[in-house]
Amino acid sequence: MLLEVKDLKVQYGNIAALHGIDFHVREGEIVTLIGANGAGKTTTLYTICRLPPPEAPKLVAGDILFRGQSIVKTEPHDIVRRLHIALVPEGRHIFGNLTVLENLKLATFARRDQEKINEDYERIFDLFPRLAERRRQRSELLSGGEQQMLAVGRALMSGCQFLMLDEPSMGLAPLLMYDMFRALKRLNEEGMTILLIEQNAHVALEFAHRGYLLETGNIVLAGTSRELMDTPEVHKAYLGG
Ligand SMILES: Nc1ncnc2c1ncn2[C@@H]1O[C@H](COP(=O)(O)OP(=O)(O)OP(=O)(O)O)[C@@H](O)[C@H]1O
Ligand SMILES: [Mg+2]
Repeated sequence: MLLEVKDLKVQYGNIAALHGIDFHVREGEIVTLIGANGAGKTTTLYTICRLPPPEAPKLVAGDILFRGQSIVKTEPHDIVRRLHIALVPEGRHIFGNLTVLENLKLATFARRDQEKINEDYERIFDLFPRLAERRRQRSELLSGGEQQMLAVGRALMSGCQFLMLDEPSMGLAPLLMYDMFRALKRLNEEGMTILLIEQNAHVALEFAHRGYLLETGNIVLAGTSRELMDTPEVHKAYLGG
């Protein structure tokens, strides 16, 4: 098992955000957590990444295992460098005054495998030709969709093997969204394990192998994407019918 989240309880101050959730991700899978605004999706990703306070939600109980080892005491930089986990946060957080290439380069700071780094640049430009064309352009001049591609590219440049994405479809026109998910699918076919957080249940379930439905800090449904799509609750609340 790659990731196992066990009875995870998380609070902001005294207010509970996750009430003891369980889920897992196997090597090579695409798993999605779907749910409405405020359900706890982003909180779940931040808790796995061990982001430092004050942004970090407080883990009150439960455990997070990565390849069988607890990571709840792992330092955030070790999550990236040693465990090769990457997060593409909501809102992208790229450096607008740097070029595309400079943003990608920054993400390699902890790596020493120059040959593999060069291969990774090529891989990203192959996945996202729009970034290749704009590699010397300042990032703030990119469209929203292109910035999202850059955010994914940057995660890849960290050398990650497990990619967590927070709403990558947010604000993208349908065509760009399609490009984005096609690129992510290809990455998965090449071996990347993916945990996708999405409000857009339709897109998420088309893309993922399995999923979980999160409602106000509880996982209320689990199943294959097909099973979830056929569930009346999901259908009614999240697929618009
Ligand atoms: N930094 C914070 N401080 C206090 N409460 C927070 C903080 N971040 C999130 N919360 C609360 O925790 C709960 C879960 O929020 P979270 O951001 O995880 O939801 P989400 O499922 O990602 O929602 P969205 O779809 O809107 O992004 C919400 O009730 C939210 O108000
Ligand atoms: Mg969120």
